[in-house]
Amino acid sequence: MEPTVQNNAVSMPRIGDKAPSFKAVTTQGEINFPEQFAGSWVILFSHPADFTPVCTSEFMTFATMEKQFTDVNCKLVGLSIDGLFSHIAWLRTIKEKIEFKGMKNVEVKFPLIEDITMEVAKKYGMIQPGESSTKAVRAVFFVDPKGVIRTILYYPLSLGRNFDELYRVIIALQTADAFSVATPADWRPGDDVIVPPAGSCGVAKDRMAGKEEMKCYDWFFCTKKLDKDTVMQAILKQK
Ligand code: BEZ
Repeated sequence: MEPTVQNNAVSMPRIGDKAPSFKAVTTQGEINFPEQFAGSWVILFSHPADFTPVCTSEFMTFATMEKQFTDVNCKLVGLSIDGLFSHIAWLRTIKEKIEFKGMKNVEVKFPLIEDITMEVAKKYGMIQPGESSTKAVRAVFFVDPKGVIRTILYYPLSLGRNFDELYRVIIALQTADAFSVATPADWRPGDDVIVPPAGSCGVAKDRMAGKEEMKCYDWFFCTKKLDKDTVMQAILKQK
């Protein structure tokens, strides 16, 4: 009999949930997630398999950008359903042999979890049977310094992620926290930010009358300036 969708049901943590805890073996020793990362942001991401081309391009890109993430208090942790020796061999191959888009001699210094039992992948809904029941999809979990999941992205096996977007997400989340604002479509540091909606008719009226230092497209949609230096200083200070 064909398995039912219910049989394939996967549990997935959601935005706002505490990141499910686990202990794991990684290429940088054992980790205790998310407890040992308290006080830092962490990006926990999965990839389908070692020694595959899209994943190799992703790891080279992420490793090359690692300092950019560390500078904004964000650590990286990878995972695939492969064993430790496969991980070690793959990362050595990347460093010793692969040259891609001007990147070469790339050393992956962040931990890569071995998850041959799929225990962690299942906990995080990284196995999506319609895509593959043996490989993790390209999942990305952004976890804040209190261990709360703040953003989740999923990509299929064939689609390499945009790492500039992952960096934009971490900066936008930190900006929202530091300045109590929201960020509009395609926001980048230096662009105007969205102020919380007017909570009373009086505030709505004042905003539309131009009494506050903001630009209102309508009473419910007001932005204000927030320069790039102010954003980056606040973010870099928290490290
Ligand atoms: C890759 O990383 O190239 C890949 C992995 C699994 C399926 C398809 C592509």
